[in-house]
Amino acid sequence: MPPGGPDDDEFEELRAEESNAMVRLFGEYGRGQRARFAVGGLASVFSTLMELVPAFLLGVAIDSFLTADRPFRLPFVPDGWLPTAPVEQFVFLIALLAGSHVLGAALGWLNSWAWNGFAQHFQHEMRVDAYDAMQRRELSFFDDKQTGEVMSILNNDVNQLEGFLTNSLNQGIGIVFRVGGMGLAMLLINWRLGIVPTVIIPALGYASYVFVNRIHPKYQEVRSSVGKLNSQLENNLGGIEVVKSYTTERFETDRVEESSREYLDAQWDAITTRIAFWPTLRLVTAAGYTATFLVGGYWVMVNRGLIADPLPFFNGPLTAGTLVIFLSYSRRFVYPMRQFGQIINDYQYAEAAGERVVGLLDTPSGVTDRPDAVELDAVEGRVEYDDVGFAYDTDDGEEQVLDGVSFDVEPGEMVGLVGPTGAGKTTLMKLLLRLYDVDEGRVRIDGRDVRDVTLRSLRQSVGYVSQEPYLFYGTVRENIAYGIPDADDEDIEAAARVAGAHEFVADLKDGYDTKVGERGVKLSGGQRQRVSIARAVLKDPDILVLDEATSHVDNETEAVIQNSLDDLIEDRTAFAIAHRLSTVRHADTILVMDDGELVEQGSHDDLLAEDGLYATLWRVQVGEIDALPQEFLDRAAGHSVQPGDLD
Ligand SMILES: Nc1ncnc2c1ncn2[C@@H]1O[C@H](COP(=O)(O)OP(=O)(O)O)[C@@H](O)[C@H]1O
Ligand SMILES: [Mg+2]
Repeated sequence: MPPGGPDDDEFEELRAEESNAMVRLFGEYGRGQRARFAVGGLASVFSTLMELVPAFLLGVAIDSFLTADRPFRLPFVPDGWLPTAPVEQFVFLIALLAGSHVLGAALGWLNSWAWNGFAQHFQHEMRVDAYDAMQRRELSFFDDKQTGEVMSILNNDVNQLEGFLTNSLNQGIGIVFRVGGMGLAMLLINWRLGIVPTVIIPALGYASYVFVNRIHPKYQEVRSSVGKLNSQLENNLGGIEVVKSYTTERFETDRVEESSREYLDAQWDAITTRIAFWPTLRLVTAAGYTATFLVGGYWVMVNRGLIADPLPFFNGPLTAGTLVIFLSYSRRFVYPMRQFGQIINDYQYAEAAGERVVGLLDTPSGVTDRPDAVELDAVEGRVEYDDVGFAYDTDDGEEQVLDGVSFDVEPGEMVGLVGPTGAGKTTLMKLLLRLYDVDEGRVRIDGRDVRDVTLRSLRQSVGYVSQEPYLFYGTVRENIAYGIPDADDEDIEAAARVAGAHEFVADLKDGYDTKVGERGVKLSGGQRQRVSIARAVLKDPDILVLDEATSHVDNETEAVIQNSLDDLIEDRTAFAIAHRLSTVRHADTILVMDDGELVEQGSHDDLLAEDGLYATLWRVQVGEIDALPQEFLDRAAGHSVQPGDLD
């Protein structure tokens, strides 16, 4: 089974429009590797040609020394250079034989060296470029793909190309020259006899064509069942805790068995087709060999006067030595031709993989700098949302998430952003960093549309603490100083103190040098949040966005963080999304979002006086009323909000 291959076609749109992805990749990455390619290719050609020499010398030896049918002569060697005494001729022949093997081996080494270098460098540059193109893609690119799928381009598809470049392409060149060289040599030596074995070439070509057409859909089936099985296994491992606590082991084993069975069936179907192909090729080549033996043998017998009244075709000489050369060459059609079907097959996989890589390389990011983008500098921190509308692209069309949102924030203001889960708070803030671009209206910072400034300067001015803090595998120190490699220890510690992280970090085994993240120490949700607040504090941005940044932190710690943050954000614009209304109670302005719309706006006291959604949420949280009014719950049931979300 060839590795890689087309996956479930989630990536259809990533397949390049390019009619020939391999040609495109060769143009791009083969160019720098021209020297290696040329050396490798030429070495392959000449080492293949060296393989033609031994059988030829054997034929000459038979005719000159055993049957004495022909005088001792060699092509490409002037007669004057040849020794005349039979013993010397024989030694000369043996020397040529040995020389051809030595030269063939040396050329074989040169071929491997240059060719592997070609394939490795090609692949390395392509992988780095593909990664770079991938991470520049807009965030929505990653929304509708599983991490595993994007990884499969960078791993499977790139490696698939490596396999093809290192082995199949090299073998392909070798085969073309071996088969072509032998065919040509036979036609030159005796074209009439040469026709007999060469007619199998089209026959083999046809057999390979039929095979490829049959096997291709079967391999696709195999690939897609591999993908299914893998995602099943990955899912189950990730959810092992749930599996155990709900004692669904049996159920999950059954599901895995079902996926594994599908894989087995698909694979078996492909195997039965594949194993029928080799005997077919063998029979065709054997027919070519047998026919050559028959025709050539008959001819030699005619020449020796053993057959009376021969057909006119057999006019002219044919020696036993020549027949030996023919038989040796036509037999060697078999092996390369067998490989040929596989190479055609590999090429198809490589092409499919190449299309995905080219798709990744060539599709521009949906969110990029405009050509005339300017640097955003000396940020005062005025933020304006002007009739902003936004929808996510989902499988079932667009989902309107924000509608006609307008508000202004003065420099240095602290803004609280509240509302039920799913109201669009996070989305609203992502538009400020251009993690997504608005569909309608505009977002301005200091009067400038965020789409008119460079992404780099924009994102450097805005510190964003996401709702789902992510720590990289590395030390606490590296995680806090992420993106600021030259930060010194004092600054890092100061940032950690502001974020309320210093105490627990100091208690870790290695303090700031403790490894955290995927393979490191597991921090609690609240601890991760504090490390990621410290990261934003250290960045010292002009505008700070905290998206439920303290939601997993207990009330006392939150109060401590709040206190130290207050000093920090005193003279910069800050947004704080909060679930707990007490968190934003003292904000200059509170924006209340509901179902994609900005429904209320004002200070805590104003909003309580207004007696709207905010006032109701507040009363629920302080325990004045037990639950939200029915009218609100009914409305919430209409979208994804659950009453429990509004605690
Ligand atoms: N990446 C996404 N793709 C599609 N829909 C999304 C995505 N992120 C959020 N949504 C949807 O957008 C709505 C608003 O989400 P969000 O901005 O996260 O709300 P909030 O932060 O107020 O809880 C929700 O209905 C959510 O399901
Ligand atoms: Mg949110």
